[in-house]
Amino acid sequence: EPEVIRDKAAMRAWSRRRRAEGKTVAFVPTMGFLHDGHLSLVSAAVAAAAGPVSVVVSIYVNPSQFAPTEDLATYPSDFAGDLRKLAATGAVAAVFCPPDLYIRGSAGHPTASASGGAASCLEEAGGHAHETWIRVEQLEKGLCGSSRPVFFRGVATVVAKLFNIVEPGIAVFGKKDYQQWRVICRMVRDLDFAIEIIGSEIVREADGLAMSSRNIHLSCEEREKALSISRSLVNARTSVLNGNNHGQQIKDQIVQTLTEAGGQVDYVEIVEQESLTPVERIDRPAVICVAAWFGKVRLIDNIEIQAP
Ligand code: PAJ
Repeated sequence: EPEVIRDKAAMRAWSRRRRAEGKTVAFVPTMGFLHDGHLSLVSAAVAAAAGPVSVVVSIYVNPSQFAPTEDLATYPSDFAGDLRKLAATGAVAAVFCPPDLYIRGSAGHPTASASGGAASCLEEAGGHAHETWIRVEQLEKGLCGSSRPVFFRGVATVVAKLFNIVEPGIAVFGKKDYQQWRVICRMVRDLDFAIEIIGSEIVREADGLAMSSRNIHLSCEEREKALSISRSLVNARTSVLNGNNHGQQIKDQIVQTLTEAGGQVDYVEIVEQESLTPVERIDRPAVICVAAWFGKVRLIDNIEIQAP
């Protein structure tokens, strides 16, 4: 059974004890409602450690990465189920689930605004004492950053806080959130965190849909339509491997497939794998990234392509 830790100081002390015992602390940050994609990160964490390892999984729905218009209030949770799944892996030593990670002022909890209106970002709740933010200035801008301007600020900041509390030697992120993974890599490099970042492959349902906590909100029909995402990405990769290096053509094809399926495209981009700068002619390793709405659910997915 994993040890459940709620307190920051207790988490840090726990971690330091493990390190004193000669263990590598490997960390998997999550927002809970765990699925096999999350659990694959636990295996990746174990595999990445050279010797004895203690895996810590955090479960914390970080308010600062949600804009007031977004789905913080409806973000799914199932703590008991999460604990059961983590225990079943037999590989998780501790679960860190803090009630709140931010220093707050006089205002109420950030998820409940005084007016009873939409759940809001930290800075909009008023009275928050927290005012320090990490911005990865270029990488945070394109792709998901265009429609979610404060998202990566919130992600980078909470991950830095978690790193300072858990003090891991290794941390694992899913390539499902490709830009997030790259943002964290850059932050760690630029700010000299002594943490090895592992990017782990996307886990999909049998029919290709990338696993996501938000899939629970899809109706049967929407879920069926959402298969157009992975289908269009696989077709795009095939097309590149068959010699089509024309970025715009490939993007147009994906947009068409998603739109015909009834999706609302947020973006379809082909970018360099590390810098995430747009690629027009696909003559080097790239990644095709997609975000699209199916009903009220915004889904993201991507596929890495090695140029032929
Ligand atoms: P969350 O969406 O819960 O995801 C936690 C981790 O699981 C992330 O690294 C994400 O990329 C990975 N993941 C999700 N679905 C996956 C899939 N189908 N295959 C492989 N990995 C997958 O991402 C976050 O939480 C938050 O932004 C967080 C980093 C915890 C900061 O709040």
